[in-house]
Amino acid sequence: MSEFKLTRYRIRMSDDLRSLQQPFSAILLSDLHNVSYGDGNSVLLQAIRSEKPEAVFVTGDMLVSTNEPQMDVALALMDELTKQYPVYYVEGNHEYKVRHYAEVYGGDGEHFFEAIQSFGVHLLKNSCERIDIHRMPVTVWGLELPWQCYRRFRKYELTAAQITELLGEPDKERYNILLVHHPIYFEAYAAWGADLTLAGHLHGGIVRLPYLGGVITPQFRLFPKYDRGIFKRGGKQMVVSAGLGSHSIPLRINNPPELVVLDYI
Ligand SMILES: [Fe+2]
Repeated sequence: MSEFKLTRYRIRMSDDLRSLQQPFSAILLSDLHNVSYGDGNSVLLQAIRSEKPEAVFVTGDMLVSTNEPQMDVALALMDELTKQYPVYYVEGNHEYKVRHYAEVYGGDGEHFFEAIQSFGVHLLKNSCERIDIHRMPVTVWGLELPWQCYRRFRKYELTAAQITELLGEPDKERYNILLVHHPIYFEAYAAWGADLTLAGHLHGGIVRLPYLGGVITPQFRLFPKYDRGIFKRGGKQMVVSAGLGSHSIPLRINNPPELVVLDYI
């Protein structure tokens, strides 16, 4: 792929936290699928650097889980990004497969995760890290979804109570950012207490039609509800990236790859 667009979302904080906060930006990367924009992803890196982000949030599927997993580009990008920014990473279904099926992939999954952590990536596996960004108290959570959540033909129900079992309770006095690969459970993420959920996975619905939006997901589901964009529910928000790469259906129509910038105001 040769080009991507930059999509910018303005994230409004709750009023009590707004008083603490100065404006800042963060990057959301999702579904790169080992694609490089320019040599060594120089074009993508330049676009990220020009935003001067305080953090980079990664919501999975940076690699491709073919029988010979493709992960060299993803590794090189993580190596570069961690030299300049704190990078928070939650796995997608491709990382999950490579990590869990050692009989197919050997040690490739472990190698990938060991390598990115050696670069300094904060890998969040049903865990969190508490950070302050310009005096604003933020907790970044990473939810590793059960494998059934990626099933093709029957929707798996995920509840806020299950998320609490996996993560514990959200922090009451802090801004809770939840990184998760699949956006389909937004109601549960919001009910659990995520102030801002970041996700990807659906590649914008592959083919986008006027008024109807995305047509199909990489798992062959039609007209996904949360295909890309910003969604709101009871004061909680979710941003879904259309992703930077492709797999399964190597096609995008009216749906360019995108780099997402989050502007906190
Ligand atoms: Fe995915």
